[in-house]
Amino acid sequence: MLKVLVVDDDAGLRLTVKNTLSAIDYFDIDEAFDGVNALEKVMKENYNIVILDVDMPRMSGLEALKKIKQHDPSIIVLILTAYSNVDDAIQAVKNGAYNYLSKPIQQEALVNIVENAISAHKMIADVAASAPILNMDEGKKIIGKTSHMRKVFNIIDRLSKVNTPVLVRGSSGTGKELIARAIHMNSGFKEGNFVAINCSAIPENLFESELFGHEKGAFTGADQRKIGKFQYAEGGTLFLDEVGDMPQLMQVKLLRVLQEKVFVPVGSNREIQTNVRVIAATNRPLEDMIKSGDFREDLYYRLNVMPIFLPALSERKEDIQSLTNTFIRRFNKKQNMKITGVSSEVEKLFNKYDWPGNIRELENIIEHAFILEDSHTIQIRSLPESFLMRCGIELADPLDLEKQNVSYGPNEEVPVVQTEDSPSLGRKTTFSFSTEKLDFNSQKETFEKEFIISALKKFNGRINQTALHANIPKKTLLRKIEKYGIIAKDYAAL
Ligand SMILES: Nc1ncnc2c1ncn2[C@@H]1O[C@H](COP(=O)(O)OP(=O)(O)OP(=O)(O)O)[C@@H](O)[C@H]1O
Ligand SMILES: [Mg+2]
Repeated sequence: MLKVLVVDDDAGLRLTVKNTLSAIDYFDIDEAFDGVNALEKVMKENYNIVILDVDMPRMSGLEALKKIKQHDPSIIVLILTAYSNVDDAIQAVKNGAYNYLSKPIQQEALVNIVENAISAHKMIADVAASAPILNMDEGKKIIGKTSHMRKVFNIIDRLSKVNTPVLVRGSSGTGKELIARAIHMNSGFKEGNFVAINCSAIPENLFESELFGHEKGAFTGADQRKIGKFQYAEGGTLFLDEVGDMPQLMQVKLLRVLQEKVFVPVGSNREIQTNVRVIAATNRPLEDMIKSGDFREDLYYRLNVMPIFLPALSERKEDIQSLTNTFIRRFNKKQNMKITGVSSEVEKLFNKYDWPGNIRELENIIEHAFILEDSHTIQIRSLPESFLMRCGIELADPLDLEKQNVSYGPNEEVPVVQTEDSPSLGRKTTFSFSTEKLDFNSQKETFEKEFIISALKKFNGRINQTALHANIPKKTLLRKIEKYGIIAKDYAAL
């Protein structure tokens, strides 16, 4: 049964489409009355086909199309448009719609176009089902059994045959760099270097030299000739991480290299040919940045030839177990330990949690548990306190051997029992879901403080960078730093 969503502000038209398609018996048809309503439904249900009107109040069909494709590129979108508005429909097809149909709707044309769309859908599903095995370095296996991740693997496979730029999108910790490495390892560029550069960490005045190199004496301080990252990456891959933070002038220069495959080192008049696959990554909303003039539209289109969207871990909870096991294997090897898994309570907690820091957060939590755990199975007591607090759990006294009492709140799904797979070493954990002690404000403050400290660490104590990347207004950040007595320069790189 294929799920179809019909979106039109005209109820009569929705009915026509519904009645026509109901004649074909393998559809489960749902309706939405405008773009916003459509998006709400797409976020909740797995639709295969969306039939979308262009001209609607609140959110146009073109806008809704963009958002639907961002959410799940495999959804097939058919556009309905008034005859006079065909230009919009053509634009929609350029933006990823499968096809369009002019109003008034001819029933036969609708059935034809939908049947073609179904064949297209089947092809995508088949391709996704035959996910290729990706070559990666030992210990760097890419986990992903959801259909979205299988599609990502397939795109990577296809990218091995062409040299188009790639744009990897996704929140922090979703695996952007790992995917970039996988593209490199599975491409014709794998014999060359994989050179990563973090665009948010390079001072603006050194950017050009960093990318293209410079001649001796090109600027004050340039006392040696220097090779740029493009040359290091020759025949290989240049990974431009945080590309949204690239200064405007460099955006122009990068576009030129992508188009003409030549660059000029700073202070030189020699053009150098380049053969490098460029992969860019960002967690920033480039589309909004184009509107505010912070990112060049032409560069966006050049990079966006093949966008890859990495889902948040909360959208791929099926992968948590395999990811957990992968990290356990990795840390066992690294630290010469023999942890065999996590207790069933930990497993439940992991499945319940919404993982704002995504895969990196899971990895960090397991690394933390490796330090504290002294049985063969990771227990709740070894998880970071901040994580447990976010889950609403308070460890009463993790190291107290005497206390054996366990209490947990009403309706709480995480029972506290020693399980067979969690051999106790005589140290039992006492904790309670302290419903009575739970205080939103104090927990929020603890979280805020920890969050700010870890963000400052990541950006070497730099207030502007931290505010920008952690998405905190600078004034608020400064206020909180003062409130919690944090000293930003303590986190400056040594
Ligand atoms: N699908 C996956 N399978 C196994 N490990 C993964 C997967 N995705 C990410 N990881 C691991 O999670 C960690 C974070 O991944 P990565 O650094 O690629 O994320 P990122 O999106 O670049 O994060 P950030 O935005 O913070 O730079 C890495 O250790 C990586 O090896
Ligand atoms: Mg990264």
